[in-house]
Amino acid sequence: MKEDVYILGIESSCDETAASVVKNGRTVLSNVISSQIDLHTLYGGVVPEIASRKHIEEINQVIESALTEAQMKLEEMTAIAVTYGPGLVGALLVGVAEAKAIAYGAKKPLIGVHHIEGHVSANFIEHPDLEPPFVCLIVSGGHTHLVIVKNYGEFEILGRTRDDAAGEAFDKVARAVGLGYPGGPKVDKTAREGNPHAIEFPRGKVEGSPYDFSFSGLKSCVLNYINHAKMTGEEICVPDLVASFQNSVVDSLVSRGVAAALEYGYDKLAIAGGVASNTALRAGMKEACRKAGITFYYPSPIYCTDNAAMIGVAGYYEYQKGNISGWDLNAVPNLKLGQR
Ligand code: KG4
Ligand code: ZN
Repeated sequence: MKEDVYILGIESSCDETAASVVKNGRTVLSNVISSQIDLHTLYGGVVPEIASRKHIEEINQVIESALTEAQMKLEEMTAIAVTYGPGLVGALLVGVAEAKAIAYGAKKPLIGVHHIEGHVSANFIEHPDLEPPFVCLIVSGGHTHLVIVKNYGEFEILGRTRDDAAGEAFDKVARAVGLGYPGGPKVDKTAREGNPHAIEFPRGKVEGSPYDFSFSGLKSCVLNYINHAKMTGEEICVPDLVASFQNSVVDSLVSRGVAAALEYGYDKLAIAGGVASNTALRAGMKEACRKAGITFYYPSPIYCTDNAAMIGVAGYYEYQKGNISGWDLNAVPNLKLGQR
């Protein structure tokens, strides 16, 4: 009988300090997240130095809680996996230094994990039947990628954003209409009370690159709309405005995701990253996939936004491939997808 593999996953790339214990790559035994959202809300966005300082305060207790919740000891872990990029350098360094110290002290293998590979891997937690290859749309605060997941941790990039990431567009529009930080969930909630067809905003296109995304033109249109209303004294219906903006983003994401799956001949499509928790995107993608005969996969919201369970899952597959990091592992803030 094969021995069970237990991965302690650690994540600190942005404003969540997180740790998890994952068994055999698919079973989450614990998933502890200490969010700094309240702290950064005061400033209207993530302040990198504050994020690093908060990570260093929290990380030991978060790891301790993850082990306690899983009812396991550090000695029982097979390996330690940690996000080493992309992300905020100071924030990443806290997790990487912690993971190295633990792995070195406990004589365990250390596994550096790509944050985006983590987001994609979140889909494996609740879908035991999902295995590569499949098409995946990764939409977070810093990334918008449409990829073919060829194998675990192996990606062929079909398209990416040319300017803002999808989550960034949500955050900027939320700020412009005074919904505050973090913008995505607030736009999502407010949009439920609005008419998504009230204002016809453009769908960003990149000439000659059918699977690339562009959201900065849409963002400018929303800002122009607000400025125009202010100048002419017209009242803005915020729910209609954000619902129409969200509709444009969702339309761009759904149409490209489904078109890519059909063109490349895949009958499985997954979404990942913070924006994947958006209710309109989930509903739109579900319906479009149903019509196209594609099976649609999406993680629970808690596994969409930053967490360490996804790092434990990705760490497991890297461990299976023998991808053990050296003691010189460092934070790589601009780590590219598919790079190790
Ligand atoms: O994956 P994530 O937690 O962090 C990054 O790796 O960037 O994504 C955070 C992003 C933020 O831009 C946030 O506004 C967005 O995901 N987000 C949402 C929703 N929940 C989080 N965007 C739209 N609708 C949501 N419900
Ligand atoms: Zn993320």
